[in-house]
Amino acid sequence: MLQFTFLLLVLGCCQGLQPDYDSEDFQPVVQASKYGSLWPLPQKVQILDVCFKLSGSNFKFTDAKDSSAGPSCVLLQNAYRRYFEYLFGAAKQVKAGRSWLTGSTAVTQLQVWITSPDSECDTYPSVTSDESYELTVDQPVAVLKAPTVWGALHGLETFSQLVYEDEYGAKSINSTTISDFPRFAHRGILLDSSRHFLPIKVILANLETMAMNKFNVFHWHIVDDQSFPYMSRTFPQLSQKGAYHPYTHVYTPADVKMVIEFARMRGIRVIPEFDTPGHTQSWGKGQTDLLTPCFSGIKPSGTFGPVNPIRNTTYKFMDQFFQEVSAVFPDHYVHLGGDEVDFTCWKSNPDIQKFMADQGFGQDYKKLESIYIQRLLDIVTTTKKGYIVWQEVFDNEVKLKPDTVIHVWKGNLQAYQKEMADITSAGYQTMLSTPWYLNRISYGQDWQGIYKADPQDFKGTEEQYKLVIGGEACMWGEYVDATNLTPRLWPRASAVAERLWSARNVTNINDAYNRLSAHRCRMVERGIPAEPLFSSFCPREYKGI
Ligand SMILES: *[C@@H]1O[C@H](CO)[C@@H](O)[C@H](O)[C@H]1NC(C)=O
Ligand SMILES: *[C@@H]1O[C@H](CO)[C@@H](O)[C@H](O)[C@H]1NC(C)=O
Ligand SMILES: *[C@@H]1O[C@H](CO)[C@@H](O)[C@H](O)[C@H]1NC(C)=O
Repeated sequence: MLQFTFLLLVLGCCQGLQPDYDSEDFQPVVQASKYGSLWPLPQKVQILDVCFKLSGSNFKFTDAKDSSAGPSCVLLQNAYRRYFEYLFGAAKQVKAGRSWLTGSTAVTQLQVWITSPDSECDTYPSVTSDESYELTVDQPVAVLKAPTVWGALHGLETFSQLVYEDEYGAKSINSTTISDFPRFAHRGILLDSSRHFLPIKVILANLETMAMNKFNVFHWHIVDDQSFPYMSRTFPQLSQKGAYHPYTHVYTPADVKMVIEFARMRGIRVIPEFDTPGHTQSWGKGQTDLLTPCFSGIKPSGTFGPVNPIRNTTYKFMDQFFQEVSAVFPDHYVHLGGDEVDFTCWKSNPDIQKFMADQGFGQDYKKLESIYIQRLLDIVTTTKKGYIVWQEVFDNEVKLKPDTVIHVWKGNLQAYQKEMADITSAGYQTMLSTPWYLNRISYGQDWQGIYKADPQDFKGTEEQYKLVIGGEACMWGEYVDATNLTPRLWPRASAVAERLWSARNVTNINDAYNRLSAHRCRMVERGIPAEPLFSSFCPREYKGI
């Protein structure tokens, strides 16, 4: 019996060493990157072989004399606390270690200087925010200069990534000059709180991790067929009847407000998605007559299809609903979905058949869908919001406002590249998600494929490339809840983060492996259960919950 157990163990080990299917057979050359553990890699970095020390007992963040954001900027003060804890909180304080005594010089201050007259401290970030910053690490004062607080937040994260421990465990930082800005303005993560309810705590933890990766958009796919957890003040019955549970599986107005403020403090926009006319089964539970009754022959079958596009009450409802949404969510954009509309139910319904005949649409149900979307877009336009839609809306030739963003999610490499080219040649802005459906998992280092995909990798003109505003990593929720969301997302989404932030020519997989491994250990040290890339260890392992 004992021997048998032993055999099994040995088998397990060997399998671990020789994976059956490792897609790329990637054997990393493990060595420290000349960029340390910086992730995503800044646009311009120069790290010298000159090392200074830092100590929690005498280090402080200060606001520069001429900074437009002083000590009254709560957003910055909050960030100083966060980064002080990351820098000095977790590890044991090292008192006057040997290296400390040998006369090495120390950085005792990070001076933060917001240079624009308007620091934007009390506003929300937007797609046009200036997120750039410049960081100079010298002794005794390091200086972080940024036009707005949004760049300063990124600079603080970068500063924290430059700090490491020397062989005696003393906090150290090298003389460094960094000048940085994002390649793309829209760098998002989609979380789906409909297929499974995501407790607020896990949403906040992922916003925190997004900030560590310089993501700046939380695309909140908040409702879908399966459940309607958004508690609406105007239509409370939507979540009362449509959530998995009316008290324990809902986001109250206070919850939503908390998420938005927590995100703002980290330079992250919150863009809600209320996807219609498909993906709306849960809406129908609390809002009678909103969905189309499906027919089986001449009788209603008792089931319902997409939103009913031929009733006036539908548009009255949408008008009131989106008035509320536009007041609750401060971002300029809402995501209106518009994907995967199944026409079967519409086809079965005699009232809709008659409407189609009256309009002279024949059997072209795309025209019916377009009528609905058009009216919805007009409604949302009256709220002064901009909108993002999934690619089908463009494919179906709906008339769109010029500032519409088309979200590409379908097809293989050739298909999505063609789609990006078509959208941009029609003059619309676009962003990419197709290669970044991180809910899909496989054995091996799939972060590499994620890392290699590039939103501007299609044939087009400079004008077309400018219309690509970025992309989003998506974590759909069919098989994901609070138990597995975080390790499935990180560090795989970090690969997307670098693609969207760093210069286009940052493509060295081996260097990325070494920096990302260290970045992943840093996330672990900060309490995030980010999964490993490959066989390795972290100086401070995840301790469980
Ligand atoms: C930091 O400086 C030390 C020498 O003091 C050097 O050994 C190390 O490689 C430098 N780190 C980086 C990331 O350049
Ligand atoms: C819907 O509204 C239109 C125009 O406002 C009106 O002509 C039509 O009669 C209304 N339909 C119903 C079923 O009330
Ligand atoms: C990327 O291009 C810039 C400017 O052309 C160059 O300075 C830099 O060294 C390149 N970086 C890499 C990693 O090739």
